[in-house]
Formats: sequence, C-alpha cells, structure tokens
Amino acid sequence: EKGGFEHFMLKEIFEQPKSIGDCMRGRLNAETAHIQLGGLINHLEKLAKAKRIVFVACGTSWHAGLVGEYLFEELARINVEVEYASEFRYRNPIIKEGDFVIAISQSGETADTLAALELAKQKGATILGICNVVGSSIARLTDAGVYTHAGPEIGVASTKAFTAQVTVLAMIAIATAKAKGTIDEGEYRRLLSEMAAVPQKVEEILKLDADIKDISKLFTFASNFIFLGRGINFPVALEGALKLKEISYIHAEGYPAAEMKHGPIALIDEDMPVVFIATKDSSYEKVVSNIQEVKARKGRVIAIINHGDTEVKNMVDFAIEIPTSHEMITPLLASIPLQLLSYHIAVLRGRNVDQPRNLAKSVTVE
Ligand code: F6R
Repeated sequence: EKGGFEHFMLKEIFEQPKSIGDCMRGRLNAETAHIQLGGLINHLEKLAKAKRIVFVACGTSWHAGLVGEYLFEELARINVEVEYASEFRYRNPIIKEGDFVIAISQSGETADTLAALELAKQKGATILGICNVVGSSIARLTDAGVYTHAGPEIGVASTKAFTAQVTVLAMIAIATAKAKGTIDEGEYRRLLSEMAAVPQKVEEILKLDADIKDISKLFTFASNFIFLGRGINFPVALEGALKLKEISYIHAEGYPAAEMKHGPIALIDEDMPVVFIATKDSSYEKVVSNIQEVKARKGRVIAIINHGDTEVKNMVDFAIEIPTSHEMITPLLASIPLQLLSYHIAVLRGRNVDQPRNLAKSVTVE
C-alpha cells in the first residue's frame, strides 16, 4: 500500500504531480482559458464583491491560508485575514455583512476549525470550506466549498494536502480576480498556463531527491534550523520549519527574511543552518542581501533558487535549483524540496516519520 516507498510520507510527496493535477482536473483549462469551480458556482459573484475574507485553520492548513492571503490580496484586491482557528473562536470576532469566512482543513474534522466556523456562521458570515475529506464535518457545515481531491493522506505530516490546498486557493483567487476585473486577460492566461505547468515542474523537482538526501546527511545532527522567505514564500518558510520540527524533532523557526535583523540574526553562527527561499521574484535582491548577512556570520546556507542562478549558487553552501514560474505560484514548487529535506533528515535520525510522537492526524480535541 506504500507503493514501493519506505514511508507513506515519501509516497505522498512523490504523488504530488498527480494530486495537484487531480485537484485541477475538470476545473482549470489553460487552453480554453477557463476556471470552473462547481462548488462555488453560486458564490463567485458575491466573493468578487467581498469586503473581507477571513481564513480560519490550524497548522499546515493555516500556512496554506497565509499563501491564500497573498494570492487574494495581490490578484483579487480583497482584504484578507488569516486566523488560527483556536484564537478566532475565543475572541469576539467582528463579522460584517459581506464577509466570507473560509475554513481550510485536510481532515475536515479539526475541532477548533469546526468551532470557529460555527461561530462565524452564527455571526452571519458566508462560510466556505476547503477540505480534503469528502463529507467531513466541516464540509457538511459550510454553505459551499471546494474539495482538494488530493486523495487520502496517511502520513501525519501534511504534504500533498498542503499543495492541493494552495492549488485550490490559487484557482479561487484567479477566478475571483477574473470575475472582478482586477487582472487583465494576458495576466489571467499566463496564470492559468503556469498553473497547468505545475505538475510537470513538480515532477522535475522530485528528481532532486537524491541530491537533497545527500545534503540532508550533512545536517542530520543539527540541533536548530532557521527558514527564511519573503512575500508569498514567507509562509513556505513557516511550513518548512513546521515540517522539520514535526518529524525530526529538530527545533526550527520560520521567519520573513527581513525580520532576521530584528532578533533571529543573534542566533547565527557556524552551527546554524539557514534555509532560504531565494527564487527570482520581486523580493529576490533583498533576500540575496539577507543571505550575505548570514554568510558574513558563518551560517551554513541551503538555498532554493531558480535554475541557472549562479549569483546565489556561488554564495551559498548548497543550492537546490527549481524551475521558474509565476511569482504567485512559486509556493507550489518551493515547498517540495523542503518536504524532502525534512523527510530525509528525519529518516536519518531514525524517527518514525509517518507517526511522529505526540501527534495525531486529525485533532478532534480542542
Ligand atoms: C502538519 C499537520 C497539522 C495539521 C493541522 C490541521 O503537518 O498535519 O499541523 O495541518 O492539525 O489539520 P487539518 O488540516 O486536518 O484541519
């Protein structure tokens, strides 16, 4: 049932070209320039007029929500807040007419997320769900939603469910932007063809598995890690850190790269590995100077870069080269090497990667 893989997590990481493809199948067509999200058909127009979207989620799904924040703000020009479900539900949240509250949950059973959604419903918000498990409690409670169709995820650490959540968020954001007229036809078509190209590009990234395993061997005994990224790849840094701590039990922190100078830089020395997402996007130059700051303090740097970026490659200890894409879509690519890095480090440390200690696949207690 692990399909020849040593662990479910690895199988699920390698399934991503297919799971991302399945998530888009029948929904996104780059040739005809169409996005059709059956579950949202009656809500898209209203979503395009939304004053505010609040994402509620926990853990990895919360990170997907943060990616969604960048997508919806940039493409559809809608105000977005991303809330930990457990915090949202114990405040007295302000919900106004026209607000959308969108729950993101792989299992659809997370107690805090479900309760946050119930509260939002009581307060009159339109509630939507982005769930993986069909017929789950959250899916049943919502007014409408979009399933991620990633297939069953067995590994406790979420991988393919995360990329499917981001795929759904990107599709909704692009469709909303199109309905709203906040992106022009050229940009719309470019986004669709870049989305359609993701499965093939993920396939290419997975070929780096052996190289990433080699890098992992040199970091197996690290006791700390920092992950840095900016813009839409800042949440990818958070997710990279969470993945590593969950399965390897190495202490790791994710930060927006520019925050480093406000504290975390004090931690940098030759024993501190720092993972940068340094793809060629609008914050590239700034991230490059952050890399220089880490190197000047003898930190060991692993960087996710675009193919052929010799500038950063020559600056860092290890470079992992991924294909270029539209900036708004890079999280789907940049997160893959980080999953593999965590996986290999955890296996090398002898951890039970599919069933990490103290964690459950579905958190139905608050
Ligand atoms: C991380 C992980 C957890 C879940 C969180 C939310 O790898 O698995 O952080 O993401 O418990 O779960 P769902 O998405 O089922 O609501």
